Amino acid sequence: MPFADLNPLEWTLYGGIETIAGLILIALLLVFISGPARRKIRWVVLFLAIHVVLLAVRVPFPDDSALPEVLRFLAHFLLLSSLGLGVFLLLTSSRLSRSFLPALPQIFLDIGHSLVYAIAFLIALGSSGVKPTELFAGSALLTAVVGLSLRDTLGNLFAGLAIQAQRPFEIGDWIQFNKETTQIGQVVEINWRATKVVTQDKVEIIVPNGLLAQAPIINYSRPTTTTRRTVYVHVPYEIPPLRVKEIIKAALTDTPGVLTDPSPSINTSGFDDRGVQLCVRFFINDFSKRGRLESAVRDRIWYALVRHDIDIPIPPRAVHVSKAGRGAVSRREEKRVAQQERALGYIDFFDHLPDAIRRRLAGRAQTRLYAENEVIVHQGEKGEELFILLSGEVAVTVAQPGEDPVELSRLKKGNFFGEMAALTGEPRTATVRATRECELLAIGKAALAEVFESSPELAEHVSQTIARRQANLNALLSEHAPSHPQVVAEHSHRLLQRIKEFFSI
Ligand code: CMP
Repeated sequence: MPFADLNPLEWTLYGGIETIAGLILIALLLVFISGPARRKIRWVVLFLAIHVVLLAVRVPFPDDSALPEVLRFLAHFLLLSSLGLGVFLLLTSSRLSRSFLPALPQIFLDIGHSLVYAIAFLIALGSSGVKPTELFAGSALLTAVVGLSLRDTLGNLFAGLAIQAQRPFEIGDWIQFNKETTQIGQVVEINWRATKVVTQDKVEIIVPNGLLAQAPIINYSRPTTTTRRTVYVHVPYEIPPLRVKEIIKAALTDTPGVLTDPSPSINTSGFDDRGVQLCVRFFINDFSKRGRLESAVRDRIWYALVRHDIDIPIPPRAVHVSKAGRGAVSRREEKRVAQQERALGYIDFFDHLPDAIRRRLAGRAQTRLYAENEVIVHQGEKGEELFILLSGEVAVTVAQPGEDPVELSRLKKGNFFGEMAALTGEPRTATVRATRECELLAIGKAALAEVFESSPELAEHVSQTIARRQANLNALLSEHAPSHPQVVAEHSHRLLQRIKEFFSI
């Protein structure tokens, strides 16, 4: 029955029944909807409340005045909107619907909401005795005005639907939609009008769907999340590029976040006034960390080049004054030796070493700098160097096939490692990684032989440490109790003999 035909009593009665239905619906919504969707229930409540107020306002008016008609229409529209929205929320956002329907994209929810209001409007209009078809068909001008003003909105709406259908990107994907690399962002929402992306600067950009439909979109999360990054580095002309490439490749192998498969590649990309330009390409899995990983790769390259005495060429515009000739080179070498000798003085390990031997050792040893997290020796590899920590800290870990590495020990300034392989010729027994930036003194076999010869008690000290560490390792690997001190002492003695033979002392 059209609402216009109801008398005030019937109208109030009908209103009462519908209001009760609305209240039941709200109760259901409160029970079945939780989380952020719950906020939408307030619209259902608000519409119903205004509907009730309008019913009350309507009663004192005589039937023939124009106001009640408008109030009736409004009250009816709000009631229908409240009920429609409530049912829509139950169907799309409640725990019940989640169990048999997949979560709908935001754009469909937005369109659904708009449809609820449009249908409520048309029904309320019909109930007031106005035929909606006449209203729109009657005015070509109105249609033209509405059509023109909605052109962009409809364009965005259909572009949004096309994005949903074709899925060139999804929520969570990293996309670039224009040439500005500062406008690369992660998609956080696709609604009926626009797509929201959040850039690395934590800034939200709202891109109209119509614009996205026309722009070439670069999706960094498709077809897989693996993406390639590139950094450039200059190296001096004097060093063969193939040698530098090997050094850089080794430096990248352990950089956390850099994939080993596909493996990094290093190409010579040019020769210019700074030197040989190398293009270092590597793959990552987490696009959001690209800046940090590129920086980590540059850091690793720097540390590796410094360790190998390779200078990164400075731009020619810088004035670099240096005294050429052998004098300058030998002075630099003297400075290096003096620095290393001073560093050795801080290490208890060399306390009993005669000054002359310590100075010779300082000349033969090499200072090496390692970045945080860099692996210094790998378990299983061959190695002939013993390392003494001048600063920083390292973690010693051992891994058995198929198992996670276990940390054995942390070593600090003055401690040494790498002696097991260097003094016995066996492969490295553990992996040693810098836990923060470390400065190390690397001592090769020849320099060690000289040290042991002049200070036999040092060989004894080292053999005791090896025996202790090996006992520790054996206990861990075989899950037995640590060996008896007597057994360790005997092993240490055998090791000392071996070291003496190895170095012909
Ligand atoms: P090397 O085997 O040459 O290389 C790995 C190094 O880790 C090893 O020498 C020792 O210096 C060190 N290492 C092995 N086991 C232990 C341990 N239990 N405690 C401390 N350091 C160890």
